[in-house]
Amino acid sequence: MSCEKAYITTPIYYVNDIAHIGHAYTTIIADTLARYSRLSGLDTYFLTGTDEHGQKIEEAAKSRGKSTQNYADEISATFKNLWDEFDISYDKFIRTTDVDHMKGVQKAFCVMHDNGDIYKDTYKGHYCISCETFFPAIQLVDDEFCPECGKSTTVVEEESYFFKLSKYEKPLLDWYENNPDCILPRSKRNEVIRFVEGGLQDLSITRTSFDWGVKLPKEMNDPKHVMYVWLDALMNYVTALGYGTDDKDMDYWPARVQLIGKDILRFHAIYWPAFLMSLGLPLPKHIAAHGWWTRDGEKMSKSKGNVVNPREIADAYGLDNFRYFMLREVPFGGDGDFSQKALIDRINSDLGNDLGNLLNRLIGMSGKYFEGTVNSEYVTTYYQNELDEVHASLDKLEPFIFEMQIHRYLEELWKPLTVANKAIDRYQPWTLMKEGKEEEAMALNGLIAAILAKVSVMLYPVMPEICTKISNALHFSIDNKSWKNMIKSTTLLNTFVLEKIDPLFPRIEKPLLEQIEPVDKKVESNASEKPETKESEKTKGVALIGIDQFFQTSLKVGTVVKAEEVPKSKKLLLLQVDIGEENPRQVVAGIKEWYSAEDMLNTQVCVVANLKPAKLMGLKSEGMLLAAKDENGLCMIRPEQPKTVGTPIS
Ligand code: MSP
Repeated sequence: MSCEKAYITTPIYYVNDIAHIGHAYTTIIADTLARYSRLSGLDTYFLTGTDEHGQKIEEAAKSRGKSTQNYADEISATFKNLWDEFDISYDKFIRTTDVDHMKGVQKAFCVMHDNGDIYKDTYKGHYCISCETFFPAIQLVDDEFCPECGKSTTVVEEESYFFKLSKYEKPLLDWYENNPDCILPRSKRNEVIRFVEGGLQDLSITRTSFDWGVKLPKEMNDPKHVMYVWLDALMNYVTALGYGTDDKDMDYWPARVQLIGKDILRFHAIYWPAFLMSLGLPLPKHIAAHGWWTRDGEKMSKSKGNVVNPREIADAYGLDNFRYFMLREVPFGGDGDFSQKALIDRINSDLGNDLGNLLNRLIGMSGKYFEGTVNSEYVTTYYQNELDEVHASLDKLEPFIFEMQIHRYLEELWKPLTVANKAIDRYQPWTLMKEGKEEEAMALNGLIAAILAKVSVMLYPVMPEICTKISNALHFSIDNKSWKNMIKSTTLLNTFVLEKIDPLFPRIEKPLLEQIEPVDKKVESNASEKPETKESEKTKGVALIGIDQFFQTSLKVGTVVKAEEVPKSKKLLLLQVDIGEENPRQVVAGIKEWYSAEDMLNTQVCVVANLKPAKLMGLKSEGMLLAAKDENGLCMIRPEQPKTVGTPIS
């Protein structure tokens, strides 16, 4: 019997960086949807993977002195390993360097070309490598900088194939109009509509200035072109199902939900449906764009050193607690600020006080009065009203999931817990027992167990490990059968003897991590096997490192554009050093004994550019200068001849 299908996707992650909580957030939401979808009996396919082509990746590999393929292999594996550790229930992990994917992209190019949607011309304009996006001059900030990420853009003029995006302006507007939920939240759909109404220009979809990408199909006979990375990447959603090769799983298409972050909405809500229309494929049911996680109010970025490592948080606080926090804390589509305090509050309050405590009360009651037995026989006789109230909440839940209102789903799911806790306070099993109303007390015990069981079924997609522990204690399994019985109908639990389990949410009194390490500090241990330094490899007490380790330090040429003394300091100068980024780096350097501010101004220096920021005398320092010091004093290490700012040093 064929049942309804649900295809759920995450974006595929760039391999220029390892996963941080932003990536984990996207993946955890998608995993929750996939788990709910399976629980409710849908034939579910969940896709994730990595986006490995393009200039950004090529440059990231080069700057680390690695071959692009090796580098992509390493970082892709860090994503896959993390998702495996996090027990993410993906059905396929696609890589854009997979041969079948590349064949599928080539096939798509041919189909679009045959449809008359692709033509050759010259592209002249600006390109932001970091966003892998073309921008017309009019959109740039100060005629140069990327309007999305603020980095400097490069001017490109090259022969290019174009996709006739302008042709799809009207069909796209019709799609948004006729499918009010095609883009969620709806406010985002309005943004997209306004953008498209402003007019669409045809899209350059090939590049010739580098070659780390999918080549054009042989039929095009134009070997110097590679595909634009977004065309390549977006196609993953169908090539994973066999598009262009064996079509094996294409019956999962169109996707039920395509989960993305708000930063990549334009690609998914405009380019992607236009490509699909050109290919004659149906459009996804929902494209759902979540908001952005910040840290202490600031955007997370490597250069600021404030990127949160999801593994570290999950290790310290528990994976399921972390999942719950992310999904409950922020309304879908909104931005959220990550702090240990907010996480601890959620664990102690929602999880500890409401859920964990209820389980403890059940264990206490059953043990004290019924030798651990839970019996549901008289629950409906005495507590039908409570059960009705619980089911009224449970019935509201499902739409929240596919409308991407997971915070409301969780909010509503907590109401049955309140019903249960209140019932204990109101009916007081100890009083019932004292008054000889044993049957009523037993029924109350059964009611609490039933509520815990029902809540754990519905909480399972968000907290699979914890809910499995609860269901084991309550002697039932969480699956489509129990979902049907306990949620869709009002079945209670069979009689059983409760298993004792340790408290699920021990109270957390203070932050468990003194400091959250920036994610990139862990790159090495995750990305590649760190070679053991054997005693024989050490010289004069200095451990030898491999070239890979050396390349983990980003050294750049910079020019000091501003220099001043740090008041009240004998040693420090405050420098602003231009290393080719949007803003100069502030560096606090302990060189005043040897250099005055004037000496340093407009000179070139060598900067360690990927150091975690530090504070010196209350001033933030975002880098370190290379210098050599012996008994005669200190001198700066500088390039022999002037070099462009930002030039990597190797
Ligand atoms: N490779 C593209 C996607 C191609 S899909 C065909 C890409 N990759 S990414 O690695 O940069 O980002 C992947 C996802 O992580 C995006 O959905 C993005 O929104 C999300 N996040 C990255 N940083 C984030 C935060 N700080 N907060 C929340 N999510 C963010 O874009």
